[in-house]
Amino acid sequence: MFSKETINKFKTIPTPFYYYDLEVLKQTLQLVKTESAKYNFIVHYALKANANNKLLNIIKSYGIGADCVSGNEVKKAIECNFNAEDIVFAGVGKADDEINYALEKDIFCFNCESLQELEVINQLALAKHKTANIALRINPNVNANTHKYITTGLEENKFGINLWELDAVIKALKTLKNLQLIGLHFHIGSQITDLSTFRNLCLRVNEIQTIFEHHKIRIENINVGGGLGVDYHEPDKNRFPDFVSYFKLFNDFLEVRPHQKVHFELGRAIVAQCGTLISKVLYIKIGVNTNFAILDAGMTELLRPALYQAYHKIENLSQSEIYNPKSETLKYDVVGPICESADCFGKAVQLPETFRGDIIALRTAGAYGEVMSSAYNLRERVKAIYY
Ligand code: LLP
Repeated sequence: MFSKETINKFKTIPTPFYYYDLEVLKQTLQLVKTESAKYNFIVHYALKANANNKLLNIIKSYGIGADCVSGNEVKKAIECNFNAEDIVFAGVGKADDEINYALEKDIFCFNCESLQELEVINQLALAKHKTANIALRINPNVNANTHKYITTGLEENKFGINLWELDAVIKALKTLKNLQLIGLHFHIGSQITDLSTFRNLCLRVNEIQTIFEHHKIRIENINVGGGLGVDYHEPDKNRFPDFVSYFKLFNDFLEVRPHQKVHFELGRAIVAQCGTLISKVLYIKIGVNTNFAILDAGMTELLRPALYQAYHKIENLSQSEIYNPKSETLKYDVVGPICESADCFGKAVQLPETFRGDIIALRTAGAYGEVMSSAYNLRERVKAIYY
């Protein structure tokens, strides 16, 4: 729900733009801190969800670490004052210069995804006379029950070391003298709304831990990744994910050894609800079976609907209840201006009668929105404003 004052402000700013409600971000971070602290859990923020400097500075101020998937993300985290010893670096395809950069900065840990990657990091660390801290990213073969493009923890996915490769990896580690194994890492997917999925992950991690104990390998850190989902349908009713149950579940089901620390890598759950894409209606066009509301924002500003058929709640703020309490709704296909049929934010969306110039909000766009925007069709890069 936006106040009349906020909507009036939107009307004065050139569209499209991302609007970030920093109060919502801070309240979310406070919840993350309070609930994770109950169990001494360590939280890293996954920069891939949103690497906007202003947001990163606030996130850092809550004492949260960083989860990066490229050399530039590591660089950005350091620029935004995240401590190198709180940075983890994952990714199936780390390039040599990215590894070298992270080695120079002495980051906390490389989350490694293949045997060959381990060999390369060892070689690069040796050349620098350093020892790299590493965690093995293990593919636990747990179904995340989410969209197939954001499922990562099944054997068929490219991510992580498969369970049947573990023996070979453990054997190889004995010869890789410039690596220090400090942890195990797991991440099974994103936008997970059924918490029992995380319970399945915990049970699998418990089994995998025993494999290492069997080999007399001491594991100091267990990193269970991210993936906690948000409510795209009711962003006002459920503004905050259920961090209470989420962290409690790991405390209840993960068998943590006394010397171990548990890490999380949350992205979406921290930033999704604080961001909204604000756009304007350029044209209303009568189609064969539908009306089109053509916006000045498209898949270049928010790719998720085109790529994952993702739902984002669409609201016509100019005709909202504040202004127009009794207006009847009509159905619109809400589309962008890009020359692609996939450039559609929603089909048959019920909106109050909509006119050229109306302000349209695409809600819950703080995660994987601005950061996935592009300049396709030589569009201007989308801007951001903050409250
Ligand atoms: N850790 C690792 C290793 C990851 O790959 C990811 C996300 C995260 C943590 C953070 O996951 P989160 O807490 O945000 O679910 N672009 C897609 C989502 C891709 C997620 C990629 N990995 C989307 O818009 O839905």
